[in-house]
Amino acid sequence: MKLLTLDDLEKKASQRIEKSVFDFWQSGAGDLSTLKENRNAFSRYKIIGRTMVDVSRLDTSPKNELFGKKFRAPIGVAPSSHHTLASPRGELATAGACENTKVPIGLSSYSNYSGAEVKDAAPNSAVFFQLYVFKNRKVSEQLVRRAEQAGYKAILLTSDTPYLGQRYADARNNFRLPRNVRLGNFEDLDDGKGNKIKIPHPVEQKKGDSQTASNVIDPSLNWAETIPWLKSITNMQIWAKGIICGEDAQLAIDAGIDGIWVSNHGGRQLDETLPTIEALQDVVDAVKGRVPVHLDGGVRTGADIFKALAIGADFVWVGRPALWGLACNGQKGVEKMLEILIKDLSITMGLAGTPSVADISRKSIVRFGPRY
Ligand code: FNR
Repeated sequence: MKLLTLDDLEKKASQRIEKSVFDFWQSGAGDLSTLKENRNAFSRYKIIGRTMVDVSRLDTSPKNELFGKKFRAPIGVAPSSHHTLASPRGELATAGACENTKVPIGLSSYSNYSGAEVKDAAPNSAVFFQLYVFKNRKVSEQLVRRAEQAGYKAILLTSDTPYLGQRYADARNNFRLPRNVRLGNFEDLDDGKGNKIKIPHPVEQKKGDSQTASNVIDPSLNWAETIPWLKSITNMQIWAKGIICGEDAQLAIDAGIDGIWVSNHGGRQLDETLPTIEALQDVVDAVKGRVPVHLDGGVRTGADIFKALAIGADFVWVGRPALWGLACNGQKGVEKMLEILIKDLSITMGLAGTPSVADISRKSIVRFGPRY
């Protein structure tokens, strides 16, 4: 089977990966409404193809540098957990693919390889360290300090997970992580009093286990307390992931956040919330260019990326497609996935009469159909 699109990679990955793991990747919360809408909503926007524009030179590089780096395209790999379930080199392979393709990656707290190991594999691309803040703040503090020491540029604070969304597929499958899976960032953690701590992944919890997701992740996070605390322990930038409305974007900026990442966790958290592409305009309007705005959720084609850029996103990220690429062919599979997206963005730009990313504007698209 020729692998020409991300859908092709998804199909091939589904044939290669054990069902319960593939379901864990694909799953969404509740009745999957937001998961599906993340994809569907993109087609409510249409591109105005302008003709007779000199598009003999196409430049997909982002309008602005990210952390002083010029990447090849405003595309990156969003943080997701446990890449060794897809391929033995896990995040080393994913990050290596990003490095070779010259795009950034955000590393999950729940990566199997540690932040330092991944940074070694991808010194330019490994820029975001995604953070869950645990009830035991000492744990998160150590993760942050290690990320800073390893050379990450920003903490990507996941703000949409005070509780784990209800993912019925995982519950039905009784999904458990294999015993031998490493949690690279949690090795040799102590509680500050010399006691070792192990933080299990929420989906690993057994029924009746005292460390359920809600017991591990701190549900009391708020702008007034959490951001000053983070700023007191690191000089890295702090970005907020999981913002879905302008009002929260404004509160994030008031709290001193350095960047906004529009996301609904790939439809895995609050079901029936807005698809990200529909939330983007409100966020962009509220932010007014004061900090960068990034987006993930259902991005699968060059046209999707183009539409997000047209509404005002500075960067667009993909989650599941990296896992599909890894499952298909390790690092090379992720490179293939990224090359498909970059080529598709480039052709879309050429056909839309926008030779550079800076030429893509709100006038490049129209929205039709009912508003939310
Ligand atoms: C995720 N995502 C995620 N986000 C996060 O902040 N920390 C994490 O550890 C994870 N883990 C994770 C695992 C899996 C299997 C998936 C599919 C997703 C969410 C991720 O960063 C991103 O928001 C979505 O995946 C984007 O949507 P798409 O591209 O998958 O549709």
